Amino acid sequence: MADGGTPAEDLARVERLLGQDHELPALLHALDGGFVLPTGRNLHGFDPFRLPSAYAVRDGERQAERLLARHRADGHPLPETIAIVLWGTDNLKTEGSAIAQVLALIGARPRFDSYGRLAGAQLRPLEELGRPRIDVVVTLSGIFRDLLPLQIKLLAEAAFLAASADEPLALNAVRRHALAYQAAHGGDLETAALRVFGNAEGAYGANVNALVDSSRWDDGDEIAETYTRRKGYAYGRGGRATRQPQLLGSVLADVQLAYQNLDSVELGITTVDTYFDTLGGISRAVQRAQGGQAAPVYIGDQTRGGADGGTVRTLDEQVALETRTRMLNPKWVEGLLDHGYEGVRQIEQHLTNTLGWSATTGQVQPWVYQQISETFVLDPAMRERLAALNPTASARVANRLLEAHERRFWSPDAQVLEALRRAGEELEDRLEGIFIEKAAA
Ligand code: BEZ
Ligand code: MG
Repeated sequence: MADGGTPAEDLARVERLLGQDHELPALLHALDGGFVLPTGRNLHGFDPFRLPSAYAVRDGERQAERLLARHRADGHPLPETIAIVLWGTDNLKTEGSAIAQVLALIGARPRFDSYGRLAGAQLRPLEELGRPRIDVVVTLSGIFRDLLPLQIKLLAEAAFLAASADEPLALNAVRRHALAYQAAHGGDLETAALRVFGNAEGAYGANVNALVDSSRWDDGDEIAETYTRRKGYAYGRGGRATRQPQLLGSVLADVQLAYQNLDSVELGITTVDTYFDTLGGISRAVQRAQGGQAAPVYIGDQTRGGADGGTVRTLDEQVALETRTRMLNPKWVEGLLDHGYEGVRQIEQHLTNTLGWSATTGQVQPWVYQQISETFVLDPAMRERLAALNPTASARVANRLLEAHERRFWSPDAQVLEALRRAGEELEDRLEGIFIEKAAA
């Protein structure tokens, strides 16, 4: 401890300090205008009534056009329905540009009162929009739901206004789909126009990551089912959620692409399991709703910022890029291995997350597994390093690669497969202590 007393004296001092109430006197001191030390770093508040900001509205419109342009460049007509995943933290960082992107696709903007406070949504006239309104099904993270209740109402209102607009059906996919749903299932327009989906209150995540992590799934439809059971709650203009599995199924049947923004250079879609959990989960649910036909998945890379920043990549391009710059990049790998046990665990997590994208979208190229095998398992020196640092995670790397083969995400040739199996067994033996015993015998 800092002040050089004996340990017993230090402990006595700490106990004395812990016994004093500093909080109320310090609060009164601060309220009197006295000097107070800042209480933390990087704390920044936000005003929920100012989100999306004017900048975010412009940025969201640019991002929406970029997404449509990329989809068009890939040879597709203007989509009828887009599925978008919204996270809370990302929208705080960007002042709500992903929220504004959803509004832009629908052809709406936020409406502010005379104090500049968010008051709801308004439609842009079709003539000004210059293209049909696109239907958007939004999936909220639990964190978004907790942080941004006003913006949930904003998005729900935009969908409702679009569904209610007296416009030609050919120019308004939201209304076209909502009326078709009503005709097929009855109920009111308010329900047929619900487009903001998320977890039940108090719940987080789609559980697709847990399913993939445990390998306890046989068929992609189980993933779709897990996703829809967790995220099948629709939030309306009043901000309350009701369970709407039938409506979600109907909306997903019209989805022509799924999308999420990536806002951090530190986290990629293969770094954490929360991207494939929801964006992958919804993609698999779309596939089920469309009789097995997968829709393209896009990632909007917003990490470069600025007016021209933002690149839209297909999922397979994004996974390829992350694999080359992380898992297959010796600098990245060595940096992780400097962290020993935890570094190997992270390598294993990247592989598991990659498998999560295969499981949910089928859009990961086979070479990714081949090269990860060559780098981490088939290279004896590297395999030995990983095993020495973290035997559990290194055995899991080999087993994940075998799992990826069993699920037909790649087809290694017989020699590679045999080498992987042998390596997997050796690593498992080592985990069970057999290696040590053999060595000692
Ligand atoms: C969010 O900010 O919404 C979020 C952050 C990390 C994982 C999932 C969601
Ligand atoms: Mg439909």
